[in-house]
Amino acid sequence: MNILKGIFRGFRLKLKKRRTPEGRVEEAVEEREPPRLTMRTRTFLSGRGHLLASYPLYEPWAYAFIVEDPKTGKIVYNVEEVSMNETELETYKEIIDYITWELEPPEEITDAREYLMKYARKAIRLFQIRLGRTPGLSWAKISYYVERDLLGYGPLDPIFRDPNVEDISCNGVGIPVYVWHRRYESLPTNIVFNSEKELDEYILKLAHMAGKHISVAYPILDAILPGGHRVAATFRKEVSTKGSTFTIRKFRADPITIIDLIDYRTISPEIAAYFWLIMDYKITTLILGVTGAGKTSTLNALANLLRPTYKIVTIEDTPELRLPQENWVQLVSRPSYLATGGIGEITLFHLVKVSLRYRPDVIIVGEVRGEEAYVLFQAIATGHSGMTTLHAESIDAAVKRLTSPPMNIPPSYIPLINVAMVIKRVIRTDETGRPRPARRITNIWEIEDYEKYREIARWDPIRDTFNLKLNDSIVLKKISDLTGKSIEGLIEEIARRKAILEWLAANRIRSYREVATYVQKYYVNSRAVLREIGVGEL
Ligand SMILES: Nc1ncnc2c1ncn2[C@@H]1O[C@H](COP(=O)(O)OP(=O)(O)OP(=O)(O)O)[C@@H](O)[C@H]1O
Ligand SMILES: [Mg+2]
Repeated sequence: MNILKGIFRGFRLKLKKRRTPEGRVEEAVEEREPPRLTMRTRTFLSGRGHLLASYPLYEPWAYAFIVEDPKTGKIVYNVEEVSMNETELETYKEIIDYITWELEPPEEITDAREYLMKYARKAIRLFQIRLGRTPGLSWAKISYYVERDLLGYGPLDPIFRDPNVEDISCNGVGIPVYVWHRRYESLPTNIVFNSEKELDEYILKLAHMAGKHISVAYPILDAILPGGHRVAATFRKEVSTKGSTFTIRKFRADPITIIDLIDYRTISPEIAAYFWLIMDYKITTLILGVTGAGKTSTLNALANLLRPTYKIVTIEDTPELRLPQENWVQLVSRPSYLATGGIGEITLFHLVKVSLRYRPDVIIVGEVRGEEAYVLFQAIATGHSGMTTLHAESIDAAVKRLTSPPMNIPPSYIPLINVAMVIKRVIRTDETGRPRPARRITNIWEIEDYEKYREIARWDPIRDTFNLKLNDSIVLKKISDLTGKSIEGLIEEIARRKAILEWLAANRIRSYREVATYVQKYYVNSRAVLREIGVGEL
């Protein structure tokens, strides 16, 4: 009887051996619950609220509506997706079940996603033939959901597609998923995980997508998702009292460039030109800021200005940096194979050490935290150039961290850093008087000696302007000593580069590739670029 049922219900059933209370072993059929990835409980606020913004996330399937409740002033991020009718939902479930149970392993795995997608398309076609013409059934809609849940990020997939969202986080069951929106900061969404099972399954899905493991035995996850997004998660109540949690830092497909930093007013064109000059001469630079301040983005934008002839080695825990230079080696640390750490682990420390063998002109470490800092400083002391970021709010705090355990940099090494800057999240008010988050490079110092820092630029929060003073710049003096060029000549060079950056910004030439093209063109033939932008000799 059970077996017959099994034939009828097909792939949902599993044959299992079971021991009876009397000790006999008998075969039994167990019905397995197919995975449920769709989440259908949504409340939508726009009817009652004031619509601040709306835009497509994936046309014509998903849209974002940012709505303010006029009474409380609370802003909510609503994801609206086309919804499936009952027939579509049933068919969708059948297709997902079919794929889940019938998927055959490929003979040779080349691209697992591609394989799954092909299989899903085949399954949809099969159902299409089987069901024939069914009124009120949109196959395109069903395909959207199948793709979203099998290959995409399920219910959060539309948010992953929003370039305005920087972070996505979930603090537990029954609490809205929060996003960090570029214009509105932290916003609750209308997406809620309603049961522990739903949330646990979603976290398992994230872990699988990242090719990693999370379980009660090893309840933390720190991994990279397809597309480069960084995920951190905890599983069940092992280490997080309210149950599973996760947070995702989205990777930008389109990196922030120096022109974007000018456009966002994070930096002034003149300061950007100063950095372009110091990148040209491989001046060792340190970027400071708190979590999420924009350190890595700034580091990347600046490293993009390095001369294409330099040999660059980057060393990171997660591969975030993207450089256009061809002479670039990207090294990424590797966690241990064992949950308890240790064996097989390759740390930043190992990588900085090995990077010296590559004879790099510039070593870029994504962020220094531990003993790798010491090796990096030794590398700088022996004539390499270095760039890195550090979690600190000011130069004094940074030096204190650098000179204390576990970094233990001797104070005499501190002047090896030539330039340090701090980037901060600040609040500005927009045209409508609304507070808006913004980022500003608030201070830049040139390092003369241990505890002797010369502030060469500072952001004025009242006027939202930057003051740059280069008259007694130590770095320009250093470049002048090295090259024989006069300080006045270098200041003129900064003015020329400032004109180029302003021209690029004014002409909205901002993408990573476009900016790289102009920067490289300028290194090869500066006159031609100046002629092109109509500046001539400055
Ligand atoms: N100048 C900027 N203007 C607007 N958005 C920015 C700026 N810099 C960075 N961001 C955005 O802020 C987020 C965090 O940036 P980033 O990863 O560079 O910060 P971080 O300081 O390195 O963070 P962490 O401490 O986590 O390493 C990213 O989503 C990025 O796109
Ligand atoms: Mg970072």
